[in-house]
Amino acid sequence: MVVVITGASSGIGRALAEYLSHHKAKLTLAARRLDRLEALNAELGGTHQVVQADVSNQEDCRNLVQSAAAFHGRIDTLVCNAGYGLAKSMSETSAAELRRIFETNFFGTTDTIRAAIPVFMRQDERDGYRGQVMIVSSSVARRGLPFFGAYSATKAAQLSIAESLRVELQPNHIAVTSVHPVGTETEFFDLAGKMGNSTVPPPGKGEVQQTAATVARKMAAAIINPKPEVWPLRPARWGLSIGTLVPGMVDRALRTYRRSINEPNTAPASTAV
Ligand SMILES: NC(=O)c1ccc[n+]([C@@H]2O[C@H](COP(=O)([O-])OP(=O)(O)OC[C@H]3O[C@@H](n4cnc5c(N)ncnc54)[C@H](OP(=O)(O)O)[C@@H]3O)[C@@H](O)[C@H]2O)c1
Repeated sequence: MVVVITGASSGIGRALAEYLSHHKAKLTLAARRLDRLEALNAELGGTHQVVQADVSNQEDCRNLVQSAAAFHGRIDTLVCNAGYGLAKSMSETSAAELRRIFETNFFGTTDTIRAAIPVFMRQDERDGYRGQVMIVSSSVARRGLPFFGAYSATKAAQLSIAESLRVELQPNHIAVTSVHPVGTETEFFDLAGKMGNSTVPPPGKGEVQQTAATVARKMAAAIINPKPEVWPLRPARWGLSIGTLVPGMVDRALRTYRRSINEPNTAPASTAV
């Protein structure tokens, strides 16, 4: 199988690359940090393709897909995983910050998919599919988190297009899978804090945190046997779906999380006054 992974230099993307490589898949590893990708490829035996790509740049998305198709001769699965968080209250998020996060998390996804669909259409089927789009969304696609409003919006937008595309592309035998991890041990929360200039604990810290390897294993199973959605922590799927029926109750539960972010971030300001 040939799998293209965006955001392979760290976290979930990297763990997926390791898992699939050990199971003999042929990979294209993409991200902005070329040194990390090359080191990963060397660790995995040096046989994979490495492509430096910034998914917020439409031209990079096109080049990535075209060079992967040329290198391997086909693409079985495109994993749109590249993304980042922004830990900042929605009311303080600037228009530029909002546009920037959509450029990477949402338009990076759609631009890569738009480039890949013609490649899938030209291919013969393998195991019943011409190809598969896998979109790494989040559990927050179903319920926005306080201090992650902009990020949650990008993830909900990814879920919406996954649902639309899945039905549209079904007659062409192209599978579409969305992935909805809960808090996962990666560089995500450190970076989200830096991007939002705040200190953020992962939601449910000490309760629900999965490893990137666990998430990757569940994603790999859905690459081998495509399914509509992957929820690496199964109870999250049911909890969040039921939560949509009782939003006030979920608001109350999330107030604890809001306080855990508010306290460290407001303390220095109040002592300074
Ligand atoms: N960790 C969590 O709790 C969690 C939960 C739910 C969903 N997710 C989603 O999982 C995905 C992977 O995140 P992670 O947790 O593995 O975080 P991570 O360790 O920070 O990895 C993020 C990856 O995305 C890449 N990336 C970011 N911006 C990019 C850009 N403009 N162009 C190309 N690549 C870019 C980074 O590579 P470079 O910096 O080298 O470009 C890196 O490889 C994200 O979409 C995230 O929203 C994470």
